[in-house]
Amino acid sequence: MRLLYPLLLVPTVLCSSLESRKFTLESRATNIDGSLPTYKNPEASIEDRIGDLLPRMTLEEKVSQLIQGDINGWMSALDDPLDNTLSFNQSGLEEMMRLKGGSIWGGYLMTYEKFVFAVEVGQRYLMENTTLGIPALIQSEGLHGFTNNGTIFPSPIGLAASFNRDVVKSIASIVSDEAEGLGINHIFAPVLDLSRELRWGRVEENYGEDHFLTGELGFAFVSGIQDGTRRNVTAGRSGGLRKRMAATCKHFVAFGSPMTGLNLAPVVGGERDLRSTYLPPFERACLESLSMMTSYSAYNGIPTIADKNILTNILRDEWGYKYWVTCDAGSVDLLYKQHFTCETRECSAKATIENFSGEMGGGTYTYLTLPDQVKAGQLDEKYIDETVKYLLRVKFTLGLFENPYPYPDYLKTIRTSKSREALHTADLESIVLLENRKNTLPLSKDIRSIALIGPQADQVTFGDYVFFNATLNGITPLGGFKQFLSNSSSSTKINYAEGCKLWSNDESGFDEAVNAAQSSDVAIVMIGTWSRDQTLLWSGLNATTGEHVDVHDLGLVGAQLKLVQAVKATGKPTVVVFVSGKPIAEPWIHDHADAVIQQFYPGELGGLAIAEVIFGAYNPSGKLPVSFPRDVGTTPVFYNYLKGARPMTDFGTTTDNGTLVFGHQYVLESPIPLWSFGHGLSYTTFNYTDFTLNPSTIGPTDSFNVTVTVHNTGSVDGQEVVQVYATDVFSSVVTANQQLVGFEKVQIPAGSSS
Ligand SMILES: *[C@@H]1O[C@H](CO)[C@@H](O)[C@H](O)[C@H]1NC(C)=O
Ligand SMILES: *[C@@H]1O[C@H](CO)[C@@H](O)[C@H](O)[C@H]1NC(C)=O
Ligand SMILES: *[C@@H]1O[C@H](CO)[C@@H](O)[C@H](O)[C@H]1NC(C)=O
Ligand SMILES: *[C@@H]1O[C@H](CO)[C@@H](O)[C@H](O)[C@H]1NC(C)=O
Ligand SMILES: *[C@@H]1O[C@H](CO)[C@@H](O)[C@H](O)[C@H]1NC(C)=O
Ligand SMILES: *[C@@H]1O[C@H](CO)[C@@H](O)[C@H](O)[C@H]1NC(C)=O
Ligand SMILES: *[C@@H]1O[C@H](CO)[C@@H](O)[C@H](O)[C@H]1NC(C)=O
Ligand SMILES: *[C@@H]1O[C@H](CO)[C@@H](O)[C@H](O)[C@H]1NC(C)=O
Ligand SMILES: *[C@@H]1O[C@H](CO)[C@@H](O)[C@H](O)[C@H]1NC(C)=O
Ligand SMILES: *[C@@H]1O[C@H](CO)[C@@H](O)[C@H](O)[C@H]1NC(C)=O
Ligand SMILES: *[C@@H]1O[C@H](CO)[C@@H](O)[C@H](O)[C@H]1NC(C)=O
Repeated sequence: MRLLYPLLLVPTVLCSSLESRKFTLESRATNIDGSLPTYKNPEASIEDRIGDLLPRMTLEEKVSQLIQGDINGWMSALDDPLDNTLSFNQSGLEEMMRLKGGSIWGGYLMTYEKFVFAVEVGQRYLMENTTLGIPALIQSEGLHGFTNNGTIFPSPIGLAASFNRDVVKSIASIVSDEAEGLGINHIFAPVLDLSRELRWGRVEENYGEDHFLTGELGFAFVSGIQDGTRRNVTAGRSGGLRKRMAATCKHFVAFGSPMTGLNLAPVVGGERDLRSTYLPPFERACLESLSMMTSYSAYNGIPTIADKNILTNILRDEWGYKYWVTCDAGSVDLLYKQHFTCETRECSAKATIENFSGEMGGGTYTYLTLPDQVKAGQLDEKYIDETVKYLLRVKFTLGLFENPYPYPDYLKTIRTSKSREALHTADLESIVLLENRKNTLPLSKDIRSIALIGPQADQVTFGDYVFFNATLNGITPLGGFKQFLSNSSSSTKINYAEGCKLWSNDESGFDEAVNAAQSSDVAIVMIGTWSRDQTLLWSGLNATTGEHVDVHDLGLVGAQLKLVQAVKATGKPTVVVFVSGKPIAEPWIHDHADAVIQQFYPGELGGLAIAEVIFGAYNPSGKLPVSFPRDVGTTPVFYNYLKGARPMTDFGTTTDNGTLVFGHQYVLESPIPLWSFGHGLSYTTFNYTDFTLNPSTIGPTDSFNVTVTVHNTGSVDGQEVVQVYATDVFSSVVTANQQLVGFEKVQIPAGSSS
């Protein structure tokens, strides 16, 4: 068929391959010969569908695909979350879909019914009331539970402490189950930044300091979110790959090491750091992730959103990444507001689109300038076309053109017994036993009384990226101990005292705490950090962790350390539990507590899990995904430091035990961490025999197998995380002193081997 209209009348329609045009401008959504347009045919290949749809789109329609819209544009999402009025703003809907209809932010708390109504209205409008009928991505957060009142799992740093790919995959798959039913098809997780700069507030969102662990767990998370097919969507004869939900690897790249510890600050490094440290987790986890989000920061002097080397040369050309990349909220504006590499919004939009990323909300919508820039000949439309193709590929891969709607039975997938079981496992496996002097733990269920003390003892503390009252769905430690003890028919008495607040220097509660300890057989003191309160949005800034909550000190805030010291002074065995989103630097506690447990911000069953660990109903198996410094001034303390970065005897031998040697020491403090990456104790003991390496000599690019027999030589069942580290003994450039290259978590009954 030939194109039947004169080109001059249709300046906004692309003029490529005129010969093959199957449609007229007046009737872009149908074919002249009456056949089904390829883009609407589920049996056609994804590439053919993209190729068929793109030329039918006007410039304005293409640009609207690239800008993130907001469900609040037609639904009153910011009102009382419990209000269930099912009505929408018609002109708001029409305007939103005309300008920003490609992807829709929906991460608000509404009743499920209202949310489903809003998604249904939006998608039905796009499918039935717009010319081409292109469905939207519907987006929410989901680092550890999606933020429209889904089940909340342990924070990512806690999930990482499980060192268990299966745990991470299983919780991601539940996040996906719960979100999918409501019509969400795009989750902004996982975060693959590395926790090497501990002052940064977002450490809790990461899988720790190591790029290998991060890559493995990131891959597990992406698979859990994406694997599967949406309902009523079939693969099609040549339809190819399908996914049920888009994950988002973020923040691409090197975001987690801001030079001042302050969020968004520039990151210092070169091509070697980029390739050996920051890129590997993304290359491992994200090549099949349907989207990525760029970082706010500049790396090596180039703002990442306009870094051609990173976004075009490496991501697109070297890795062949073919899905959607979006900028983080408001970040396009930073080119002229923070980085000053552009003078105007137009320049910011152009530099970003030329590196193939979309624009999120939270800024001034600089991409609305793109149509005029194209018409003025300042921007080549090919960049817009290429970027739209990446987004359409995601939509076709999800099967959204076949089924963009929420499921009528969505309630069946939320908070099921299966999610509760996975939650319970994740909460247990993420607890790390750091210190256990004289086998203080586990406590016997026959013990007469325990003192449960501290500001975290009757408090649910989730990490950042939860909304409005999410903590009401969690159990506090006090609640968990009570439930555990009553379920165990134990007569152990609990003497509870708050002792002090998390944030205050007020010691007036100490007497009550000391009395509780004195009248008990053992004292458990629960202290730590607390996270940005999303309910208060940006006003909850007296938190000590979370996005935009960076700190200059890693010690305990307020009277908390003094509370531990007062309790310990009673002479009662004192167990300290840190509930926190990052390492706490308190050498006194390391040196004096009888036992120390790290519970990174847990999920909804965290309060029960800590009781089960302390009483030995579960044998702790977590390992640290991040090292604990003695003092903020000794950071960074990540374990895979470059050779020469820690104390050395003579030249060449590194001492990792804190021995004071000449040079490579701080005058009054040791650079050796309190507890290092990979550390974590158990109530049983393991030994290793029959180590083999195959092949026994490893070349630079060889893969290899390590086998070892692990024996549980203690008297209780346990899980061990077998960790394999490698070092390049002599190398032409300075390399890491050691590097994790493999790990496997195994369950071994007492007296058995694996
Ligand atoms: C949040 O919790 C408070 C206190 O429990 C309650 O008054 C309020 O209605 C809750 N808000 C929502 C949106 O659930
Ligand atoms: C509906 O949306 C339009 C367009 O965004 C806006 O101007 C108007 O104020 C909205 N109406 C209500 C009642 O919110
Ligand atoms: C959130 O979920 C909890 C637990 O299922 C429920 O009690 C609460 O009403 C829900 N909140 C909203 C706003 O739907
Ligand atoms: C979609 O179009 C139908 C038929 O013209 C109309 O009745 C309906 O109100 C429209 N829906 C929206 C949300 O605009
Ligand atoms: C991409 O980013 C670079 C900076 O690395 C910027 O100078 C350029 O304008 C952008 N566009 C293209 C096509 O490279
Ligand atoms: C799938 O298709 C069936 C039959 O057409 C329909 O009844 C059902 O509602 C659809 N399911 C979803 C989730 O759209
Ligand atoms: C109660 O204890 C039993 C037996 O130890 C255990 O199977 C069950 O999961 C426990 N329930 C709770 C809620 O802790
Ligand atoms: C923040 O501090 C104020 C007192 O300065 C206190 O009232 C408030 O509860 C604190 N918020 C949190 C989340 O701890
Ligand atoms: C620490 O390591 C150094 C060098 O390996 C060794 O000489 C010293 O004995 C060690 N000290 C302790 C307390 O283990
Ligand atoms: C490890 O434990 C096994 C099983 O108890 C025992 O046979 C072996 O001798 C132990 N090996 C070492 C090196 O301790
Ligand atoms: C490692 O073991 C796997 C599974 O047994 C095998 O397929 C692979 O060839 C082995 N690789 C090497 C380098 O020996």
